Amino acid sequence: MVKVLPASRTAHADVRVDNASQYLKRCYVVERQLMRTLAARFVDTSQWDFKRQLSQDMWETSRHADALRTRVLELRYPRRDVDKKYDPDMLALVAECAKGQDSLEFIGGVYGTLLPELVRAYQDYLDQTDPLDDAPSVYILRHIIADKQAQIERMRALAEQVAPRLFEATAEWQDYLRQCCAAVGGISGQGTRTPPPLNHSLAGRPAYAIGRSVQRDSRWRPALFHLPHENKYDVEGRKAWQRIEALDKRVAMQVWSAISHFNEIWAAEVVAASMWDFDTQPWDFYLDLARWSWDETRHSTMGYRALQGWGWNVPDLIPWGNALYNAMGPMPPIQRLALLYYYEDGLLRAGTKQIEIKILESAQDDGGVQDMDFDWADEAIHVSYGYTWLRHLLGDNNAGKEELKRLTDEAREIIAAFVAQHKDDPQAKLAPYFDRLHDVIASMLQDIPDDNLDVHWAPVVADEEVLKA
Ligand SMILES: [Fe+2]
Ligand SMILES: [Fe+2]
Repeated sequence: MVKVLPASRTAHADVRVDNASQYLKRCYVVERQLMRTLAARFVDTSQWDFKRQLSQDMWETSRHADALRTRVLELRYPRRDVDKKYDPDMLALVAECAKGQDSLEFIGGVYGTLLPELVRAYQDYLDQTDPLDDAPSVYILRHIIADKQAQIERMRALAEQVAPRLFEATAEWQDYLRQCCAAVGGISGQGTRTPPPLNHSLAGRPAYAIGRSVQRDSRWRPALFHLPHENKYDVEGRKAWQRIEALDKRVAMQVWSAISHFNEIWAAEVVAASMWDFDTQPWDFYLDLARWSWDETRHSTMGYRALQGWGWNVPDLIPWGNALYNAMGPMPPIQRLALLYYYEDGLLRAGTKQIEIKILESAQDDGGVQDMDFDWADEAIHVSYGYTWLRHLLGDNNAGKEELKRLTDEAREIIAAFVAQHKDDPQAKLAPYFDRLHDVIASMLQDIPDDNLDVHWAPVVADEEVLKA
């Protein structure tokens, strides 16, 4: 016999550091894969309201994954295995969620089944763990739960407006995913395992693959381009734009920046597709790209808000192009990133943002100035992301630099060839848009005192000949 004091308190038998890190790692894997899946399905979703919500939730999911990953690393610091041997059950579960046959079914499955299952796993963890010993986990999980619940409520409210009965119509898919989850003991892995739903009518679909071309929301007319600098062959479009410029160059900048912001969705798509295409990069790659992609969706939303703020019927008046993502479709993912980096770096180097802000200030367009100011702050980060990750992917040496230049030059040739190939498509013509827009703008103009700003400004373009001109 030995002598001891009685235990000072009772503790849950399973609440130990190893168990905590295993549990949270399982959740990290789900969040990480969910983030990548949301990124990919964002690309494949055309309905604008759903699209931008998926993008925001993708970014929030990256923050959740990051917080969990950091906590797993802390639990017996310095753990090195957080990004090794991902739980195959969790990978398979999220891979099933990705297979929703369209955006509506995908949304039904994620927001109707997977997120509630995640919330349950986090709540179960909180119910078990010790709030003093494991306080950092408790803090993280309470915030993640709040975010997830807000995501579910927001998506349900959005579905009410955009696609009523979405959740009822996808009940069978949600049921299938619920059974997939139960078959692996839930996300916690602690539930009773039920047989996998192999005979379910929705089981056995092929693995999800991201689309290499995008469509825009069906409320818009199909369009390839959005502003005249993209397509040098569209002479009528350029002339129609010049009529808007003739009203006042300030007016042209107000409208240009809003249309161009709105169309930045292609940049969000290119980055999101990279998050899917690259599947074995370091965690910070995904964290940075999640932010980058969501920022571009925010910029697009800034443009949409400005266009709506003028009281315009946006789908009727504003072209929403898909040429950039679609022209890049056949490129390897690294080449798409290289081209995006080239554009963004060029904009920043040329000081374009500062010039645009000056002109918008001269127009006394407070909202436009604010949007551009925060956009500029974001873009500076994006250039550093591009610089960092392209060096990582290509090698931080002369050969890497040369390869970056080769990829960029070739990408610009591909874009130029795409433009030439589609120059006569009706969808490539911008004059009908700008003719309609001219009259709408002209009817709204108001006078302000002239500050005599000398407006000199040229957009950054992909085509060397247009640059020279
Ligand atoms: Fe942007
Ligand atoms: Fe950007």
